[in-house]
Amino acid sequence: MTRLDRLFPRSAPVIHGKLDSLQLSGSIKERTAVALLAGLVRDGHLSPGGTVVESTSGNLGVALARLCAISGFVFVAVVDERANVAACRAMQAYGATLERVPTPPDGNRLAARLRRVRELLDAIPGAVTTDQYGNADSPAVHAASTYPEIVADLGRPPTHLYAATSTSGTLLGLQQAIAADGHDVELVAVDAEGSALFGGTPAERQLPGLGAGVETALSGSARPDVLHRIPESDMVLGCRLLARREGILAGASTGAIVAALGRDLARLSDDARVAVIVHDSGVPYLPTVYDDEWVADTFGTGPLEALAAGAPNPFGSSAA
Ligand SMILES: Cc1ncc(COP(=O)(O)O)c(C=O)c1O
Repeated sequence: MTRLDRLFPRSAPVIHGKLDSLQLSGSIKERTAVALLAGLVRDGHLSPGGTVVESTSGNLGVALARLCAISGFVFVAVVDERANVAACRAMQAYGATLERVPTPPDGNRLAARLRRVRELLDAIPGAVTTDQYGNADSPAVHAASTYPEIVADLGRPPTHLYAATSTSGTLLGLQQAIAADGHDVELVAVDAEGSALFGGTPAERQLPGLGAGVETALSGSARPDVLHRIPESDMVLGCRLLARREGILAGASTGAIVAALGRDLARLSDDARVAVIVHDSGVPYLPTVYDDEWVADTFGTGPLEALAAGAPNPFGSSAA
């Protein structure tokens, strides 16, 4: 973990970032992938030579592809048109097969990918899925590793813990660990505007990593204390701030967390110990989040102008 003292100048709470962007496959999904594959092996569903099929918008696919390569499993990644190009190339570099699913007329790419996973499971003898959207091994690994590592690094529990949500595996695992340890930690979920999680209204989104087109089996059990829904233009601004002020290049979901923190700063007490997860590296987002032309074409010049204006907390006026 690292202190983010420069992120919001003149603000009092200490913010700590857990750099899961440094995981071998570039994201926190490395932990999830290890746990999901180990669970299939443990339960006797997967052995060397076996085929794993999973729907992924990027990070889990890269982690699964890497781990399948070194474990002797065949990996088929079901991706959609919003999947990150760099992530798809990385999966292929590790030897995965990509199954591309076109956007269906109703726009629900996740539902379309899940349909394709079921078709492939029927078509490929012995194929299994890691089922990241409902597999209890996903939250379990975050309860067993992510949360205890945060507490160990801080020397005590944080007062506030921010995590972005997609399947909700990370959030649910943190929730389980906080409950099991009896800690008094405010758990803050950071979702995308246009995500269907937690009763949201699905809408077209551009950036991968957080949000989901349907409620997931895991999200149904998640009970965050606070929920933020962040527009994508604020994710861009959050990412850019983190890069310029802290020298940390992170992906869209971490930018969303920065925006959520900015909204919350006014209500956080001076002695708050805040922990946030830096979910993935920003390198795959260089052609989007970090490209001025793409940002201006997609969201207008607002995020770039806000960055240039240099306000200590550009999210301060839109308190949650
Ligand atoms: C970039 C990114 N953001 C957020 C998350 C949280 O996702 P989930 O809710 O699926 O654990 C992940 C994966 O863990 C991720 O890779």
